[in-house]
Amino acid sequence: MADIWMDEGALARRHSVKYRRYPADVLPMWVAEMDTRLADPVKCALAKAVADSDTGYADPNGLLEAFAGFAERRYGWSPDPAWMLMMPDVMTGIGEMLKLVTEPGDAVAITTPSYPPFFQRTEEIGRRIAENPLVLTARGWELDFAHLESVFAAGASAYLLCNPHNPTGKVFTRAELTTIADLADRYGVRVIADEIHAPLTFGGVAHVPFALLDHPAARASVTMVSASKAWNLAGLKCAVLVAGERGWADAQRISEDVPYGASLLGVLANQAAFEAGDAWLTSVGGALDGNRRLAAALLRELAPEVGYRMPEATYLAWLDFRRTGLGSDPATVLIERGRVALSRGTDFGDSGAGFARLNLASAPERVAEAVRRIAAVVAATQP
Ligand SMILES: Cc1ncc(COP(=O)(O)O)c(C=O)c1O
Repeated sequence: MADIWMDEGALARRHSVKYRRYPADVLPMWVAEMDTRLADPVKCALAKAVADSDTGYADPNGLLEAFAGFAERRYGWSPDPAWMLMMPDVMTGIGEMLKLVTEPGDAVAITTPSYPPFFQRTEEIGRRIAENPLVLTARGWELDFAHLESVFAAGASAYLLCNPHNPTGKVFTRAELTTIADLADRYGVRVIADEIHAPLTFGGVAHVPFALLDHPAARASVTMVSASKAWNLAGLKCAVLVAGERGWADAQRISEDVPYGASLLGVLANQAAFEAGDAWLTSVGGALDGNRRLAAALLRELAPEVGYRMPEATYLAWLDFRRTGLGSDPATVLIERGRVALSRGTDFGDSGAGFARLNLASAPERVAEAVRRIAAVVAATQP
């Protein structure tokens, strides 16, 4: 396997927010960007567009079919390109759909801890948040279905399903998805599935698209996908909205100008990733699998009081510092005392107090260095 990680010098020259937010002595292990090089097919598509000065407005042709082909190969899911829309990014698609399937003042159910923009986008458009906290059991993070049902029964009109789940790395099983679908159908709740992390599952864990269920709630759903996480293209701005039959009845009312917020370079890069990026997924998946195991071994050895469950997908580790003396906001303490930047747990909802999210998409030496810095701070702090 060719080395997928960029060297230190190239990382220091990066312009992205991961590298620009903090001073150079802070190891950036926070926002969900990877320290990888670009996959070859993506690099070629971008280089060709630049060589041809091909930088006009984006066109969805080719992109939607490319995603359909990828979904078929990867998940055995055959979504119809006629029910898809190009989008500038996943959060735009989620916001637009929420505006269409809920009314101002409605509650939107969100399983917490949650990717922070789920809260911000929901509130920005005048909807309320109904938190549904995950519970940590001996089997890992689990949905509290009784609680989810109570939230649905109390009148939530949409549910934001994040699968695989950011920040825990949980991958929902078909049985769990079916229970969600049953509840959504019973209470008339519309499911908006964010499956941006789906190409990055490990260790034999399979991603089941919510839309693949043979269920009325799946046909009423809309799914947001993008190559932006698995191929590290977030700055290029492109995602795809994939609707079921009833979902499409709403999605086609999205204003015509919204899809054109996507960038042509993003579309070309996403298309190349979906058409020719399978080998890349094998490489990056192997490397990330190694990193999640490395973090497990090092945390066990150097900071056993920090709680860690290996993610089943993606490259985010949700670390539990509640048995250390680092308080409710360990990320801030770690930046100040350890010069390592994780994402702040409380940004992921109230249940994130005492947690921080570690981004494992770095070369193994950097992951090891991050754990050493975390361990040194924990060791120097009295619980
Ligand atoms: C679950 C989830 N959804 C959406 C996004 C952001 O996607 P976009 O930049 O396409 O809006 C992220 C980024 O980390 C994410 O983790």
